[in-house]
Amino acid sequence: MLYGADYNPDQWPEDIWPEDVALMREAGVTTVSLGIFSWSRLQPSPDTWDFAWLDRIIDLLHAGGIGVNLATATASAPPWMTTAHPDILAADESGSPYWHGSRQHHSPASPTWRRLAAELVRRLAERYGDHPGVVMWHVDNELGCHLNEDFSDAARDAFRVWLEKRYGSVDALNDAWGTAFWSQRYGSLDEVFPPRNAPFIRNPSQVLDYKRFMSDTWLDVFLDQKRIIRAAGAPQPVSTNMMGAFPPADYASWAPHIDVITDDCYPDPLDPQRRFTTAFQRDLVRSLKRGQPWILMEQATDAVNWRPSNPSKMPGQLAAETAQSIGRGADGIMFFQWRQSRAGAEKFHSAMVPQAGTRTRTWQEAVALGERLAELPELPSPGDDAPVALVFDWENWWAVEGEGHPTRLDYLQLVRDWHAALVCRGIMVDLVPPERVDSRYRLAIAPFLYLLRDAGAAALTSFVEGGGVLAAGPFTDIVDENDRFRDGGFLTQLGPALGVAFEDFRPLVPPARDVVAERAGEEGSAGAGSDQVAAPIGGVGASAAFDGRLRGSGTFVAEAVWADDAEEVATFASGPSEGRPAVTRRAHGSGSAWYLATMPDAEAIDGVLEALLDDAGVAGELDDVPAGVEVARRGELLTVINHGTEPVEVTAPGTLLGTGEAFGTRALAPQEFAFLRAPR
Ligand code: GAL
Repeated sequence: MLYGADYNPDQWPEDIWPEDVALMREAGVTTVSLGIFSWSRLQPSPDTWDFAWLDRIIDLLHAGGIGVNLATATASAPPWMTTAHPDILAADESGSPYWHGSRQHHSPASPTWRRLAAELVRRLAERYGDHPGVVMWHVDNELGCHLNEDFSDAARDAFRVWLEKRYGSVDALNDAWGTAFWSQRYGSLDEVFPPRNAPFIRNPSQVLDYKRFMSDTWLDVFLDQKRIIRAAGAPQPVSTNMMGAFPPADYASWAPHIDVITDDCYPDPLDPQRRFTTAFQRDLVRSLKRGQPWILMEQATDAVNWRPSNPSKMPGQLAAETAQSIGRGADGIMFFQWRQSRAGAEKFHSAMVPQAGTRTRTWQEAVALGERLAELPELPSPGDDAPVALVFDWENWWAVEGEGHPTRLDYLQLVRDWHAALVCRGIMVDLVPPERVDSRYRLAIAPFLYLLRDAGAAALTSFVEGGGVLAAGPFTDIVDENDRFRDGGFLTQLGPALGVAFEDFRPLVPPARDVVAERAGEEGSAGAGSDQVAAPIGGVGASAAFDGRLRGSGTFVAEAVWADDAEEVATFASGPSEGRPAVTRRAHGSGSAWYLATMPDAEAIDGVLEALLDDAGVAGELDDVPAGVEVARRGELLTVINHGTEPVEVTAPGTLLGTGEAFGTRALAPQEFAFLRAPR
């Protein structure tokens, strides 16, 4: 179990370093991430290099038994680079450059930045690749975090190269992007730009490709640096810290290239759904590399400083959130950062060693946590623990939230709603793209899978044929990978398995008075292009009741579908699709395929899920999961956490790790958790 933090010794006089190492030993720190923002110290001017300080601190840490996760230090380019090479600067949508003075102002596509970064990484890898204290490489930092879109000339040129590779010819691009519409036909790739500021809805296929391009560009920075590290003969695992469900980076496509998944997670203390949001993030990163543990590379010991207001964590919350990470697959618990900065933009951010020193609750909790982690035996690898696959797909996320659609939706939140319903029942879930749904799962839920690639459709269909239970919909199987309608209507790929054909979307928009209120605040016409919700269709409210074997209400859409060859499990009892099927099921191959023509609301989701779990023969880890309690399985390890503010009685199988005592039925105090050995 790794335990430690980002360490920025270059922000401090050297005489503090020995004290740092002594305190690290006291806290049980095993590993620190070093040098993440040290470029201007390592290369103070174009022709000057200074590695002596880094030699000294790595040696000191190593002598103290502390391993180094060595950063490639490229996350913030030194100011001299802006003046010497203005072409390294990234640009916003209107083409205006970002400037230094914060961090991450460079264009990841700039050949100059890439050349200068490569030189730094090469020197670091050659110098430290065989240092016994270096245990891992930390490429850049949170690639794309602040600068997720770059509209610089360098990005423009690189986008054209990327498009050339993808399409081979401008004719193929014209076809994929549907440029016959609105006179957008290109004569050559030199006429193509990233989707810069435009007066109205931009070509959705172009926007989608640009998002793919940006994600690939950040990945390319990683691959470049990894290649350099390997070319220097450095054998350590190479990683880069991810940010969970971070919209601009398709981590599912990055994961195969990354030796160990590392993730940063900063839950909002004011988020009432916090424990579900974090459980979602942990499940997502665990699912990126099935069967492998991951490392929580950054979390805050206490408050952050970058939200509008930044309350402290409640006592015990840090340990409970840590237990959640371990229960959901983490083998390393690290913080941002070791010692609180005394200057700069993050001086109010918490750390393991606060500005107020070691008498603080934060320090004491960090030390206690270190002790508790050190006592843990080797934990089983997360394996085939999840009977349920929840389809989560970045390309679909980008496309489904595009402009000009029947209704606006928040894809991440909608997938999270399903995830939370499963977590409440103590059921483990993997979050995977459709192509990764296979026979290891018993149930797959694919909400709002608007963009469905051929391979994804094939995987979902063969999952059902092989005996799985699939629940699809709504607003699923609408476009191909280029965000184009396919020939033959909608549900063209999954329709045969579902036994359902599609007529119309029929959005359920907010009640009419909300629309009126929004309009009242607007000037001018409410015509196409105004930034507001569409008028309600037929005066329909925000939900539509459905009735039958399942009852409840649906939200977002009440699609009109024909159940040509499927059982009607429930029918719309109100709303724009009254009388039409709301939930259908069809036996297909050895499995079954359900279609949901609406998104069940918070209450209805339980009943729908119950029916799906029943069909798939999936049960939760505990007979009863009390409110506020979370249970997670990781091989034989069962983690039980009380996230609530009141004590709660829990009955669970297995024995306590450490003492071997049977857990049985016992009360867990607020934020208390238990690790149990509980073979299936
Ligand atoms: C992360 C970043 C760290 C630090 C931290 C503060 O996004 O990687 O360098 O800024 O946030 O919460």
